Amino acid sequence: MVSESHSPALLTVDNLEKRFGSRRGLGDLLMGKKAGFLHALKGVSLHVNQGEIVGVVGESGCGKSTLGKCIIGLQKPSSGAVTWSDGRSMDKYSRFERSTRIQMVFQDPYSSLNPRFTIGRVLKEALATHHAAASNKVDRAAEVDRLLGIVGLPLSLKEKFPHALSGGQRQRVSIARALAVNPELIIADEPVSALDASVQAQIINLFEEIRQKLKVAFLFVAHDLNVVKRVSDRVLVMYLGEIVEEGTKEDIFSQPRHPYTRALLSAIPIADPSVRNPSAILEGELPDPHEIIAGCAFSSRCPYVVDRCRQSHPDLTSVSDTQRARCIRLAEI
Ligand SMILES: Nc1ncnc2c1ncn2[C@@H]1O[C@H](COP(=O)(O)OP(=O)(O)OP(=O)(O)O)[C@@H](O)[C@H]1O
Ligand SMILES: [Mg+2]
Repeated sequence: MVSESHSPALLTVDNLEKRFGSRRGLGDLLMGKKAGFLHALKGVSLHVNQGEIVGVVGESGCGKSTLGKCIIGLQKPSSGAVTWSDGRSMDKYSRFERSTRIQMVFQDPYSSLNPRFTIGRVLKEALATHHAAASNKVDRAAEVDRLLGIVGLPLSLKEKFPHALSGGQRQRVSIARALAVNPELIIADEPVSALDASVQAQIINLFEEIRQKLKVAFLFVAHDLNVVKRVSDRVLVMYLGEIVEEGTKEDIFSQPRHPYTRALLSAIPIADPSVRNPSAILEGELPDPHEIIAGCAFSSRCPYVVDRCRQSHPDLTSVSDTQRARCIRLAEI
């Protein structure tokens, strides 16, 4: 998709591929299934502009976490490029340099916070490793207070350990820790999936506030379209390792073009129980990710499938300046 701003995108991902060696066990092999590769990312391209929130949605196993991990360098892509706004390829950055630009926030903050460290210490350690400005103890203490303020936590939590905090508070701490580095981009991988609905809403508001106050961009990964709808400027819909539709939030939620996006939207529960959801519900299982699919990856579940959908792999086609979809029947359906 064409970048709306004239300055280069903060992050550009070009044709990213990730293949994993097979996870198949002896049972599968005895059943005659090929070992093969699991193609987790099949040529994913995207960009994130400064201060923009880009949502990534798709069912479990479609490659959302793998995409985040390849961008941040936790996993090595099989091919493709991840380029920062200065034109440098991210694989030329040291781990440290990369972490000053991009931080990641995970679904379960409990497992990523050291249980033996107080919250104050967790944040001080993050500052000590990264923040040149906070070089002395006084600066660091003041910076810890500032970070807690940004994420809306009381200063009294500094002396507490992670187990004494609620899930929402722990997620706020992990967001504060990510912010300690002054990153320009935060990859948030299902950051609210483990939280109650009311807490989810508060954390989503916090992301929006952080974007406004600090101009941080987010790649916001979620399987729940409701979550993405509240927070994203643009949305990427993934299916089996590829982007099948992308557009602004309005494009995706008001005029979805790909049958998969439509099916995902129809699966959103409608709040009023007297209203029947008229659209088709997503049916059938995801294909085995080891299989090589000749045609459209969604053809096995698509209500609009015709023979030619199974014959060649569709390109991502522009339907407007901001929206693209990977379906050969866009004009007909
Ligand atoms: N280290 C690995 N080795 C082998 N296969 C892997 C590995 N990590 C992920 N996969 C496979 O790659 C595919 C994409 O996984 P990924 O975790 O990126 O999906 P996801 O969209 O984040 O799913 P979820 O919503 O469940 O978090 C899956 O089929 C998964 O089993
Ligand atoms: Mg995941």
